[in-house]
Amino acid sequence: MIFRQLFDQTSGTYSYLLASRRGGEALIIDPVLEKVDRYLQLVRELDLKLVKAVDTHLHADHITGLGALRDRTQCITVMGEKSSVDVVSMRLADGDKLTVEGVALDVMYTPGHTDDSYSFLMQDRVFTGDTLLIRGTGRTDFQNGSARDQYESLFGRLLKLPDETLIYPAHDYKGDTVSTIGEEKAFNPRLQVKSVDEYVELMSKLNLPNPKMMDVAVPANMRQGLAQQEIAARGLALSPAEAMKILGRTDVALIDLREKSEREKHGIIPGSLHAPYPGLRETIAPGGMLHELAAATGKRIVFYCAYGERSAMAVKAAQDAGLTTSCHIAGGIAAWKQLNGPLTH
Ligand SMILES: [Fe+2]
Repeated sequence: MIFRQLFDQTSGTYSYLLASRRGGEALIIDPVLEKVDRYLQLVRELDLKLVKAVDTHLHADHITGLGALRDRTQCITVMGEKSSVDVVSMRLADGDKLTVEGVALDVMYTPGHTDDSYSFLMQDRVFTGDTLLIRGTGRTDFQNGSARDQYESLFGRLLKLPDETLIYPAHDYKGDTVSTIGEEKAFNPRLQVKSVDEYVELMSKLNLPNPKMMDVAVPANMRQGLAQQEIAARGLALSPAEAMKILGRTDVALIDLREKSEREKHGIIPGSLHAPYPGLRETIAPGGMLHELAAATGKRIVFYCAYGERSAMAVKAAQDAGLTTSCHIAGGIAAWKQLNGPLTH
């Protein structure tokens, strides 16, 4: 397995690059905008294909690298379903899996530091964001934070993991890089409380100054959406209502770019084919399934996904590959559902 802990000195942020093998798919957790060049250099050096960029929560102390990584690599941006970010490519809920080839992390909703804080568990290690830090816990005094929720996320969820589980947090300001659940249970001063009320009391007395970057970082991090207007302006977007009208037509091929788990959870548009987004380049290249389908049948390729992000990127790539009639459904399944578009499960 490839596991790299990367550090941004300015914000004290740790980012994590994960992959199962050289030459395989990779994901990155909590990337920092200023370090994007460094991540991409490492991705190239290790011969990886960056497929997902994930934030554990909406950060207040640095600008996320999610949007820049998506624009530079056409990777999928991922956050939790509770996040107030405008648009990401994919949203995860408690109990879901965050996957790339050969890597599967269990998604745990662990609110408290913010109301959109998630942790990701991978066998022997857990990425705790700012929920559980080394000898500390994330502050709970802004962004809908709640010490009460955090107590439950800590004592009800994270601290119930096996003692030997490694903890990789989103930050450290002392230079510590890793801890374990057992070590934090024993030595983390915030965890030596006897009750939730005692924890709430402790957290209410921290009186921390706001992060320096907060007024810049929070608004910037809320706006991660790909500019789908560009695709719309080129006449390559169908509104869900327009897409509804072409449903069932034989000169159209609807292509679902989502993952199997998203299809199972949210349903699929009847009659659509499945071509997961990470394999897109191969399927639209000459000899690929979609390229040949369009060439042989003259069908118009209509992509869709969860929120219209992956499908907008797919349209760009497909146009470049010569599929000039390809387009997408703006807003994806989320917009489709709002219009009560038909779905099968
Ligand atoms: Fe944070």
